[in-house]
Amino acid sequence: MHRGKGMKFVGDSRVSAERKPNIPKDYSEYPGKTEAFWPDFLLKEWLVGAVFLIGFLCLTIAHPSPLERIADPTDTGYIPLPDWYFLFLYQLLKYTYTSGPYNILGTVVIPGLAFGGLMLAPFIDRGPERRPSKRPFATGFMLLAFAAIFYLTWQAVDMHDWAAAEQQGKITKAVEVDKEAEGYKVYANQSCIGCHGENLEGKSGIGPALVGTGHTPEEVKEIATKGYKKMPANAFDGSDEDLDKLADFVSEMAKK
Ligand code: HEC
Repeated sequence: MHRGKGMKFVGDSRVSAERKPNIPKDYSEYPGKTEAFWPDFLLKEWLVGAVFLIGFLCLTIAHPSPLERIADPTDTGYIPLPDWYFLFLYQLLKYTYTSGPYNILGTVVIPGLAFGGLMLAPFIDRGPERRPSKRPFATGFMLLAFAAIFYLTWQAVDMHDWAAAEQQGKITKAVEVDKEAEGYKVYANQSCIGCHGENLEGKSGIGPALVGTGHTPEEVKEIATKGYKKMPANAFDGSDEDLDKLADFVSEMAKK
């Protein structure tokens, strides 16, 4: 097309006032420079996809997902942890002015401002500049967001009690508990069951499992009456006869 003469322009001289049909040419008009979508292009796509698929398959086989014990809805001591990419939002809820009575700040206002700002960015930062150094607001806020997300994620990892988390999710040996045993009846009627669970499996954050601890009957008697480390004293309240039955039963389970 010849330039200038005879052409009509709208405001921007790069845009011709005459509308041309917007239909792309057929690929056969570019011999040697394009390829057919089917099957050439799709075959390449499929090959790349297959490489990733097999790669992920190998990864999942090499690193099986870390399973914890079966979830227990009555267990109020369990401290859940979100996946790593949500850790920064999780961490935000631990500070004084974003938790408790200020929960709304940590859950709605601050994340809302951040994500709202992201959506408004194209309307606020409207200059023609494309270099990051010429767009101080956009670049500044982006760096600020990166720094905040990085810091909060790091803090969340640092603050989390990983040892306790491993303990609370541990898959403990399922042991057959004879609920008809005389010792079990004492156990169930005493306070023990409240902290050590119906099947002596323990309750996270409250009391450990009593299976396989290796305590002798004498030790159990002492623990039940005098307490043990963080366990309070006088947990047992009953006759000496019952205490014997309880101690025999618990130490029997302690051997398993
Ligand atoms: C208030 C909750 C609570 C009650 C009630 C309670 N325990 Fe415990 N028990 C604990 C805690 C917590 C520990 C772990 C103490 C520690 O290691 O710091 C524990 C530990 C034990 C241990 C030692 C376990 C080990 O890992 O070595 C035994 C045995 C035991 N308890 C038996 C009993 C018996 C028997 C009763 C009932 C008479 C009872 N407990 C009642 C909280 C409780």
